[in-house]
Amino acid sequence: MLTLRGPVPRRRDFLSKIGLVKDGAILVQDGMIAAVGTRAQIEERPDARHAEKLNVGGRIILPGFVDSHTHLIHASSRAEEYELKIQGASYEEIARKGGGILNSAKKLRAATSESLKARARAALEELSSYGTTTLEAKSGYGLDVASELKILNLQRELSREQPLEIVSTFLGAHTVPEEFRGKPDGATRYIDLLTEQMLPEVVKGDLAEFCDVFCDRGAFTVAQARRILTAGKQRGLTPRIHAEQLSHTGATRLGVELGAASCDHLEQLNTADVRALANSTTVATLLPGCDFHLGWKNYAPARKLIDAGAIVALATDYNPGTSPTMSMPMVLSLGCTQLRMAPAEAITAATINAAYALKRHNSIGSLQTGKQADLAVFEVEDYREIPYYFGMQRCWMTMKNGQIIYMRD
Ligand code: NIG
Ligand code: FE
Repeated sequence: MLTLRGPVPRRRDFLSKIGLVKDGAILVQDGMIAAVGTRAQIEERPDARHAEKLNVGGRIILPGFVDSHTHLIHASSRAEEYELKIQGASYEEIARKGGGILNSAKKLRAATSESLKARARAALEELSSYGTTTLEAKSGYGLDVASELKILNLQRELSREQPLEIVSTFLGAHTVPEEFRGKPDGATRYIDLLTEQMLPEVVKGDLAEFCDVFCDRGAFTVAQARRILTAGKQRGLTPRIHAEQLSHTGATRLGVELGAASCDHLEQLNTADVRALANSTTVATLLPGCDFHLGWKNYAPARKLIDAGAIVALATDYNPGTSPTMSMPMVLSLGCTQLRMAPAEAITAATINAAYALKRHNSIGSLQTGKQADLAVFEVEDYREIPYYFGMQRCWMTMKNGQIIYMRD
């Protein structure tokens, strides 16, 4: 059993402290962890005497994965762009021609709430089959007041109607929508709409905890991101930011300056950015699924970040344009082979550090007394086999708040 108990957040050497317990057991009561220890320790507790026993047969137990970056709600895949990219078109070229995020926004606006919800519900079930028990989900394929609110409302409904916990982020600043492009001051006018109409509605409805901006070439500038994130912060939304994915803009430094919960992507990070993250409590969230899916070779400098002392997390970035995967185990495989993270580091980055990135480290992310009974059981003999096997289903069981939400066969 990997308990992941220990200091939070985890930096440097502490990233590989996974709190291994041989022949471990957990006592669960009312959806919470009542005790953690060896089987012998748990079995001799008076309060465990009448507990129902669930034998996981020598498999590996670990905290449920916390997927701290997803774009859960979208209308369909972009498989047609996938083929174009394989033939040589770049992600940015496709976006400039109205593909990319605009393509997804067009599809989402035309979709009914029912169809969006059905697709997201199926995704949530699949996410849980890979051991994920909590996820962050961003709006951002609506890009108008009604559609952005529609996404966030669906997230809230889904959060209530199915077992996975969904942490909502408002990403109205994903890109400038079609109807504002090519107009004088189009971007500024869209940001006016975002700060004066969308943000107040989001906050009034208590529809998000975080505010995010895609700050990059072709999306929003650092100055624009500052305006949006500051407006969000003034209304109580904690910033997070898509930073240095396509180009180096200075978005990471902005995120750190504004006290962002995380800076995500970071492929184009420089040494000063690494230092800034290391000296902060902003999490460096790495999304190697994007580089893998897009066939890029410039993965984020995970080793430099870890060695400098940054808080590193891993997430899927589940979305139709750059990372169509729901599998945290696959992300762990990429974290190990492509980012050169040790299996233990990757597991910490996908659990307790990710919980920290969502400000949920006191309730999830490790198996400790008083936390939610959120866990995953893998059909492996050694925890290193979780990333070692790739693109395979090795998750045997997932539990959320003490309830089994997925069981293989
Ligand atoms: O995290 N980079 C911006 N947003 C998404 C991709 C959006 C899309 O292409 O639909 C990401 O990679
Ligand atoms: Fe993203």
